[in-house]
Amino acid sequence: MNLPYFPEDAPFTGEQKSWVSGYLAGLKTRILDGAGKPDAGSVASAQQSVPLHILFGTQTGNAEAVAGDVAAAARELGFAPIISGLDEIEIERLAEIERIAIVTSTYGEGEMPDNALAFWTALSAETAPRLEHLSFSVLSLGDTAYDGFCQAGKLFDMRLEQLGAQRVAARVDCDVDFEKTAKDWITAAVPAFPKPAGAPTATAVASPAKVETAAAAWSRKNPYPAVVLKNRRLSGTGSAKEIRHYEIALGDSGLAYEAGDALGVMPVNNPTLVTALLVRLGLSPDASVPGSDRPLGDLLTFAYEIATPSRELVAAIEARAGDEALTHVLRHGDKEAMSAWLWSKDILDVLNVNRGVALTAEEFVALLKPLQHRAYSISSSPLAHPGEVHLTIASVRWRAEDREHGGVCSTFLADRVAEGETAGIFVSPNKAFRLPVDNDAPVIMVGPGTGIAPFRAFLEQRRELGAKGTNWLFFGDQHRATDFIYEDELTAMGKNGLLTRLDLAFSRDQVEKIYVQTRMKQNGRDLFSWLEDGAYFYVCGDATRMAKDVEDALCDVIATHGGMSAESANEYVAALRKSKRYLRDVY
Ligand SMILES: Cc1cc2nc3c(=O)[nH]c(=O)nc-3n(C[C@H](O)[C@H](O)[C@H](O)COP(=O)(O)OP(=O)(O)OC[C@H]3O[C@@H](n4cnc5c(N)ncnc54)[C@H](O)[C@@H]3O)c2cc1C
Ligand SMILES: Cc1cc2nc3c(=O)[nH]c(=O)nc-3n(C[C@H](O)[C@H](O)[C@H](O)COP(=O)(O)O)c2cc1C
Repeated sequence: MNLPYFPEDAPFTGEQKSWVSGYLAGLKTRILDGAGKPDAGSVASAQQSVPLHILFGTQTGNAEAVAGDVAAAARELGFAPIISGLDEIEIERLAEIERIAIVTSTYGEGEMPDNALAFWTALSAETAPRLEHLSFSVLSLGDTAYDGFCQAGKLFDMRLEQLGAQRVAARVDCDVDFEKTAKDWITAAVPAFPKPAGAPTATAVASPAKVETAAAAWSRKNPYPAVVLKNRRLSGTGSAKEIRHYEIALGDSGLAYEAGDALGVMPVNNPTLVTALLVRLGLSPDASVPGSDRPLGDLLTFAYEIATPSRELVAAIEARAGDEALTHVLRHGDKEAMSAWLWSKDILDVLNVNRGVALTAEEFVALLKPLQHRAYSISSSPLAHPGEVHLTIASVRWRAEDREHGGVCSTFLADRVAEGETAGIFVSPNKAFRLPVDNDAPVIMVGPGTGIAPFRAFLEQRRELGAKGTNWLFFGDQHRATDFIYEDELTAMGKNGLLTRLDLAFSRDQVEKIYVQTRMKQNGRDLFSWLEDGAYFYVCGDATRMAKDVEDALCDVIATHGGMSAESANEYVAALRKSKRYLRDVY
């Protein structure tokens, strides 16, 4: 994470600082309903009842959706809910606000979601105002698989307390299956916010009726069974990658999306792995599991993650296996050694550390996490492909312990859903990753590998809209001969003038490694001039290395060609982020 962005004087330990970076955001608090539209009911009731500000920090929309649920509950209790993204509120506004409910996810490795960075930086600065007049409660969304579990929510909760604000209900940290926990927090937190005497106890203005559309019915919990129309390999023969293009029919679902959104896909586990686990444990697929009305085979196929081992499973096996290497890494608490030990091992491999370890069906299931959907950046424009959604997915495969291993969802789509068969899907809107409203604005897109997905959608969308703005794409992978995916389409877009510039970086076609960030620097003068002309800068793909290297290159280009110090270049990037001209979809 980019520590230079953290204020020098911020009152945190080095460890806390390492979670944090960000920039100041703009002020544009809106009164919204749960669906993100102006809510006449709330506007009216705001004049009569007590405002409750609901601030969300989100990368992929979950926190925003929960914020909508908080608003609905608040309205019922007579509050006037006011929903804002954390990038839409300036810290100075807190002086006039009395109640805030924060719902935030955590991203990267224990980092703030992009839209929370600026607000967090201001809140964590030494100059942040005292907030004794403020009541608050925090809901954090996260994933226990990450070391920095719910770190963003924890930081907000701690900092608000430090600044003197009153916590009205304890922070709640949600794991991936957040719905029930979030609901419980809403039930506890919303009524706990103080109201002045005489304020209405229930909404004086009727809430707008909730229109339940067919599309709204499809969700994580209830995915739409969509027909897969096409599954074709994009990577050429001999490539180290297997990137595939999928076309999926939206049929009669009523599902709609915009360029920039993601699609949630609910996988079904590999039956070969299910059988191998049952054989290893000596359990029958028909075995019953206390507390469930489904047999074990069904649960392992449809309900639980059976590939990536949970911490609980690793700990349980360590306790029984008597395996020196595993005991050593686990007991020493060395996270890197643990990751190295776990790398390439799935649950079956962990069980096989000691084939004598036995588990009952009940014990085994208790050590598994619920099966989760996977998100994929949509690679089509709805205008170009009405009724369809396209995805660009790298199949995750590796060989270890004399066995083929596969990522759950990418191989489910690649191997186990034939064309004409169905997969469960739902749309996961990403309002923070959109083309400029101004069709004349220039756009720079950096998307190596599968990172190209949303940019195919953007380019198609701009073509369909007849947008006049210039488009510059940086794309790359290992080898041009095998990894230049969508080459025909991009070439055609170049010829017809839609794709103004295409800069390619194939890392292994020459002795020295060339990446997209290398090309950015080589074309730094033009890149800076595009930015000066108002270009929007987008990044999609690998979060661990690529996105960080691209940000460093961006700062470098701005410093070099704008004749600025590193600090001023960082401020320039901060301003881009604040004005929503630097947007990322990284994973
Ligand atoms: C917002 C968002 C957008 C995304 N968009 C895209 C997209 O457009 N295209 C795309 O392809 N992906 C995309 N992803 C990633 C995608 O969601 C999945 O994470 C990815 O497909 C892997 O899921 P899986 O179920 O196949 O693998 P999982 O079952 O989740 O397994 C992945 C795990 O396997 C292990 N592993 C992986 N490779 C190896 C190896 N070589 N050796 C040993 N172990 C290994 C690692 O521990 C890794 O964490 C996106 C993610 C997000 C959050
Ligand atoms: C690339 C990536 C990184 C993540 N990093 C963390 C993390 O460090 N800590 C954590 O608790 N959760 C982490 N999560 C889980 C998200 O916080 C969780 O999925 C949350 O529900 C997302 O909410 P949002 O859609 O509002 O952003 C990560 C998820 C992704 C996809």
